[in-house]
Amino acid sequence: MVTLTENPLRVGLQQDRIPEPQILIIFGASGDLTQRKLVPAIYQMKLERRLPPELTIVGVARRDWSHEYFREQMREGVEQFGGGLVSEQIWEEFAKGLFYCSGDIDKQESYQKLKAFLGELDEQRGTRGNRVFYLSVAPRFFGEATQQLGKAGMLPDPNKQRLVIEKPFGRDLTSAQVLNRIVRQVCAEEQIYRIDHYLGKETVQNLLVFRFANAIFEPLWNRQFVDHVQITVAETVGLEGRAGYYETSGALRDMVQNHLMQLFSLTAMEPPNSLDADSIRNEKVKVVQATRLADVENLELSAVRGQYTAGWMKGKQVPGYRDETGADPNSTTPTYAALKLYIDNWRWKGVPFYLRTGKRMPKKVTEIAIHYKEVPYMMFQSAARQVSPNVLALRIQPDEGISMRFEVKTPGASLRTRSVDMDFRYDTAFGKANTDAYSRLLIDCMLGDQTLFTRGDEVEASWRVLTPLLQVWDAPAPPEVIPLYEAGTWEPVEAELLLNRDRRLWRRL
Ligand code: BG6
Repeated sequence: MVTLTENPLRVGLQQDRIPEPQILIIFGASGDLTQRKLVPAIYQMKLERRLPPELTIVGVARRDWSHEYFREQMREGVEQFGGGLVSEQIWEEFAKGLFYCSGDIDKQESYQKLKAFLGELDEQRGTRGNRVFYLSVAPRFFGEATQQLGKAGMLPDPNKQRLVIEKPFGRDLTSAQVLNRIVRQVCAEEQIYRIDHYLGKETVQNLLVFRFANAIFEPLWNRQFVDHVQITVAETVGLEGRAGYYETSGALRDMVQNHLMQLFSLTAMEPPNSLDADSIRNEKVKVVQATRLADVENLELSAVRGQYTAGWMKGKQVPGYRDETGADPNSTTPTYAALKLYIDNWRWKGVPFYLRTGKRMPKKVTEIAIHYKEVPYMMFQSAARQVSPNVLALRIQPDEGISMRFEVKTPGASLRTRSVDMDFRYDTAFGKANTDAYSRLLIDCMLGDQTLFTRGDEVEASWRVLTPLLQVWDAPAPPEVIPLYEAGTWEPVEAELLLNRDRRLWRRL
């Protein structure tokens, strides 16, 4: 157990202002994300008095809902997926700021109608033309919706209107470049908030604090001391009824290009000059620009894909990917991906970064593990025959915390060693739940802080790293091409080999 004292850098990342009165317009408001995540997160902020009283939400979707029906749906969302209403009176007040406006994403009339409605709401609720447009629609509509908003003149002022775009931003480098061009024709980069909810997680932000507010780790954070780095995002869930989306996406687009690359860049980047949005994002872009797959000529030495078959999870039988509703019975969509990356710069030259993510793994766990080099000469006998090198593990979720593995002498007459862990846990140190990632990101966007959002060049840089792989994995191929793993087990054998070839092992989590 480790006891923490107040950390001054963290304070800089906390909310210290209440946003201006504004309207949050959610496109795709009849979808899951709005009901399960966005509105419960905003309501939680209302309970915590972090919002201006004028805050207004307008849901936009094709369905013909009334304001009242929208409010009921959102109430259900808060009750089922959020922390509950807590106070009927506060809910009533909040619900008065919820509105619905039906419309078609590809029809200019819908935007004109919305524009007029927002104007009325400005009068009624005192929201002064401040808007956040949140595109929570199918990715193929991101470009269209942005162009239509531009055509309707709804994003004229970088200081007053902002645009939030969900992931995935593009399907590959070319489509991301096209989308970037479209959005930049309509608004300035300062107005664009490309969201990656991993950046809203406290423990992800803590990476910056851990690295740059402590003097003892950074000197060891380089090729001289680090043998390799493992970044794991393992999930127990399967498709969750999202086959339509997932079949066109797969693990690389759904998890690697965004969430894992964010964890990667925060781990590997150079210290920024300051905590302002562009200083941090400049460093992230720089490191991703220096990154490549380990061996582009021999992709099988750089990456392994996998797909889950039927198996058992927590005593329940679950179907294989190809038997999930909506999935192609011959699908080669990867539900697992493992990558070996190199960074060609002074700090990291020659140090492999192994990234892996998979659905239907035995355990939900997100972790960054820094594996240090062995001591140059080992004088002691180990109880476990082989002495384990030091590992620093940053547990992102669940069981948020940090642990350090090192060798100690086992009690007794002989000089034998054993590995032990020194462990810091967020819950024991702070005793409270972490802020929800969406709350954090929504409030930052309302405040106009882009630090925790992905910049256009950053998205392009990470697509560029993955391009050689996407080209091969996207090509039509027989079903046998993809290695399989049983639901409820760790990676396919091929992914074990990716590390075994380098005389290393994946961490057992
Ligand atoms: C989403 C992916 O972005 O992240 C999902 O689309 C995935 O497939 C989810 O399950 C994981 O998020 P978290 O916060 O549960 O790790």
